[in-house]
Amino acid sequence: MTTKSSIVTSNQTAVHKDLENSVRKHLTNSFRKPYRPFSAEIFHKTNEIINSLDMPIILDSGCGTGESSHILSKQNTDALIVGIDKSEKRLDKFISNDNFYDKDNLILIRADVIDIWRMIKQSNWNIKKHYLLYPNPWPKKNQLKRRWHGHPVFPEMISLCDQIELRTNWQIYAEEYKQAMEIVTNKNVIMDSVETIDFISPFEKKYYDSGHELYRVSTF
Ligand SMILES: C[S@@+](CC[C@H](N)C(=O)[O-])C[C@H]1O[C@@H](n2cnc3c(N)ncnc32)[C@H](O)[C@@H]1O
Repeated sequence: MTTKSSIVTSNQTAVHKDLENSVRKHLTNSFRKPYRPFSAEIFHKTNEIINSLDMPIILDSGCGTGESSHILSKQNTDALIVGIDKSEKRLDKFISNDNFYDKDNLILIRADVIDIWRMIKQSNWNIKKHYLLYPNPWPKKNQLKRRWHGHPVFPEMISLCDQIELRTNWQIYAEEYKQAMEIVTNKNVIMDSVETIDFISPFEKKYYDSGHELYRVSTF
C-alpha cells in the first residue's frame, strides 16, 4: 500500500504580503550569481546537440525521476524534451555517472536550473513550452525567496518562452505565481484545476491519490 501524502500546511494563509515588492525588485536588479563550472559543462554538451537539430524544445524543469519527461517525449514526437533536475538521486533510473542521458527525442540532465535557465537565455533555443511540475512548495512564510516566483532568477526564467505551465498542490503557491507572472508579463494568466487521471508525473499521481486539489497556472 502506498503512503498518503500530507496536504501542504503553512503559517502563511494568503498571498505573501511581500510578493509584489520582491518581484519588482528582481525585475530591476538582474541576477548575477556566477554559473557553476559543473552546470556550464553540462549545458555545453546539451547545447551542441540542440544546435545540431532543428526541433522545437519542451523544457521540463525540476523533472524529478524523469518520468514526466518520458511521457512528454511520447506525447510530442515532433519536439525535443529537455528534463533537468539537480537531485543526486532522482534521475538514477536513467542517468549513471555522467549526469547526462540522450535517446530519441529526450535529453535528461542532472544540473541546477538556476544556472541552466540563464545559459539558455544567452543562447538561441527555440522553446515551445516550459513545464514546472509540482515544485517544492517551501510553505513557511519566511521561504518566499525559495519559491520560483520569489527567486531573483524568476524574470529571466519566464522570458525563455511564451507558453509556461506550472502545476502545484498548494493553492497559495498557484495564486502567488499567477500574480507574479501578471506583474512581469502584463498578460492574463489562467489558473484552473488539473482534472485528469492521465498523470503527467509521479508527484501528480501521489497527490491525486492522496485526495489533494491540483492547480495549474498557464500562459499562452
Ligand atoms: C517535488 S519534486 C517534483 C518532481 C517532478 N516534477 C514530479 O512532478 O514528479 C521537485 C523537484 O525539483 C527539483 N529541483 C528543485 N530545485 C531545483 C533546481 N534549482 N534545479 C533543478 N532541479 C531542482 C528537486 O530535485 C525535485 O526533484
